[in-house]
Amino acid sequence: MDESKLIDGIKEAAREAGQIMKDAVRPKVMEKSGHANFVTETDERIQEFLIERLTKVLPEASFLGEEEGQDVYTEKMGHGFVFVIDPIDGTSNFIYAYHPSVVSIGLLKDKKPYMGVVYNPYDDMMFESITGMGAYMNGERIMSSDAPLSDSLVVFGTAPYYTELRDETFRIAKSLMDKCVDIRRSGTAAWDMCCVAMGRCSLYFEMKIQLWDYAAAALIASEAGCTVTDIKGNPLSYTGASSTLCRARGVRGIPF
Ligand code: IPD
Ligand code: CA
Ligand code: CA
Repeated sequence: MDESKLIDGIKEAAREAGQIMKDAVRPKVMEKSGHANFVTETDERIQEFLIERLTKVLPEASFLGEEEGQDVYTEKMGHGFVFVIDPIDGTSNFIYAYHPSVVSIGLLKDKKPYMGVVYNPYDDMMFESITGMGAYMNGERIMSSDAPLSDSLVVFGTAPYYTELRDETFRIAKSLMDKCVDIRRSGTAAWDMCCVAMGRCSLYFEMKIQLWDYAAAALIASEAGCTVTDIKGNPLSYTGASSTLCRARGVRGIPF
């Protein structure tokens, strides 16, 4: 298989999907289950577009996509190639025009991360990675920061759909606040990890996100030298939801 042709096809699809996101105006919002869990027509449109386009890029692949309502990684998808896609990561940002939102496309091979593409159309930033081959942003190699936590920004996700995780989320955020320069909350998990990957901040954590939130960005971050695990330091699951902790090169141990 020609890997560079494959990832080029994925990037092209992500770029066009990003353009659809950027061109969309006044999103019609529909509510999903749970606190602030929204979906817009644009989420659905982009997902349809990506499935159609990526099927042409890699016909034998199956799909796990957020807007299909498939939140379990079924046995059918257990082997071979699986595209794990989040058409808009950062739907609330998208609704409120609070940028960025990104397109996230992970490709798993036999249940392991193989390729990852994350595209931020608002700043035209394309992140890509193939396992073992480093991480790139707009064609330039990226590495996570080697600065100590005390000289770094931290970013976190509030796990907004899981109210039972709120106390623990803010306990950890408060404890990190004493150890870093300051804390940020962007509204997109994939973007957060890309920010750690390119050295803008040194740690990202969230108590529960879905496979489509991290399938692409966790690979990009690992290839940029980050340690990406669950919140306790265990390997990330590629079969469902997980807590996530992404640490840049300069962060030693679990600092909370
Ligand atoms: C959400 C974003 C957000 C994170 C949530 C995710 P969505 O994805 O990544 O930053 O805090 O946990 O679910 O719903 O915008 O695709
Ligand atoms: Ca998401
Ligand atoms: Ca989404």
